[in-house]
Amino acid sequence: MKKTLLKNGLIIRADGQKREDILIKNDRINAIGDLQNVNDAEIIDCKNRLIFPGIIDAHTHMGIPIKDGYSADDFESGSKSALNGGVTTIIDFTILSKNQTLWESILERRKYAEHSVIDYDLHCNITRFDNNILKEIPRIIEKGITSFKVFTTYKEAGMMLTYNEIEEVARVIAYNGGLLMVHAEDNDVIEKASQPLISQNLTEAKYHAIARPAEAERVAIEKIANIAEKTSCEFYIVHLNTAEGLKIAKQSNKIFIETCPQYLLLDDSVYEREDGQMFVASPPLRKPSDCEALWEGLIDGSVDVIATDHCPFMLNDKPKGIPFQNILNGIGGVETLFPVMLAQFMERNIDLSRLVQLMSTNPAKIFNLYPKMGTITVGADADLVIINPDNIICNWLDRLVSITDWNAYSGFEAIFPEKTINNI
Ligand code: URP
Ligand code: ZN
Ligand code: ZN
Repeated sequence: MKKTLLKNGLIIRADGQKREDILIKNDRINAIGDLQNVNDAEIIDCKNRLIFPGIIDAHTHMGIPIKDGYSADDFESGSKSALNGGVTTIIDFTILSKNQTLWESILERRKYAEHSVIDYDLHCNITRFDNNILKEIPRIIEKGITSFKVFTTYKEAGMMLTYNEIEEVARVIAYNGGLLMVHAEDNDVIEKASQPLISQNLTEAKYHAIARPAEAERVAIEKIANIAEKTSCEFYIVHLNTAEGLKIAKQSNKIFIETCPQYLLLDDSVYEREDGQMFVASPPLRKPSDCEALWEGLIDGSVDVIATDHCPFMLNDKPKGIPFQNILNGIGGVETLFPVMLAQFMERNIDLSRLVQLMSTNPAKIFNLYPKMGTITVGADADLVIINPDNIICNWLDRLVSITDWNAYSGFEAIFPEKTINNI
């Protein structure tokens, strides 16, 4: 039986830090404490090292169709790069084809995900509304998939549900104890803002942010908060990105809030860069004041989760000069999520337990993976990230194993794991 002993590491948990040894047996955490006389174990000296629970990226899109293309990573390449950055679990989304049942979409996605080298789970996308879908939801929850996602936009792509439809879905999900995730950008606001740009031929990348204004998030979140109130359904706003959206969402005790590194670290000035088109994602990057509000939300506890919305493209997939409305939407980030955010938290002197809450414990609890994942405790999966906190680097592009040829965070400091122990 393989045994590994991590000696003298400083364990970072959601509720504090403690120097303890960790014994791993059969890929599980077997004992924690001052462990003496452990025989036959491989010993890893963790003196001056931090040990984090495996990072959970609760929002990825491996190999999904967007417009006339596909995001660049499949589960194999995406999970390999995730692991290189300390992510030991990803939660991705099903893709509901025309005429498919929800359950069929789950089975199809599971087959596609088979080559993942880390644990994965799935949220169930509901991109079509009818009575059969409503009827199926209780059975899906019974089978263990409890988180669903709807879109208040992407009407043209046939993925949008109306607010009335979302309310009906929410009632069924609430009754059966599930959670409803929302991509919250109001489609009417977007149509109104984008039409004049397109008719005046204002189509450079920077107009993407004007076509999908902050107001779209505010309007959508207001309506979702109202539905949450009426239905008592628990909601989770994905990739929240505006100060106004945060202000409304945090007033509801029924809404979990997720944001992403791109909305914390980058603002809409990147659209002026030579590679500006690479930053086109929906929702777009916002103003520095929005970034600041999100940082405040991280610190004061109103934001619950940091995840990536990992949806990378190659440079060739997003050629410069094409109209913003035709650019494939998405930014990658699963490999740099933890290394870059850890360096930021250290630089800003933010308690590292908060980082654990946001990137491991909270997503594990919200998505029913806790305490198997999301903490360092006896019996949990041995998903552990060992960090040398002095190893802050700036030039790390050649450390990436990602198959993609562009990264949104180059130039940012990062602390990559010295070792990640991954129990799959
Ligand atoms: O631009 C993005 N975010 N693409 C991925 C799909 C989505 O809306 O989350
Ligand atoms: Zn989205
Ligand atoms: Zn997404």
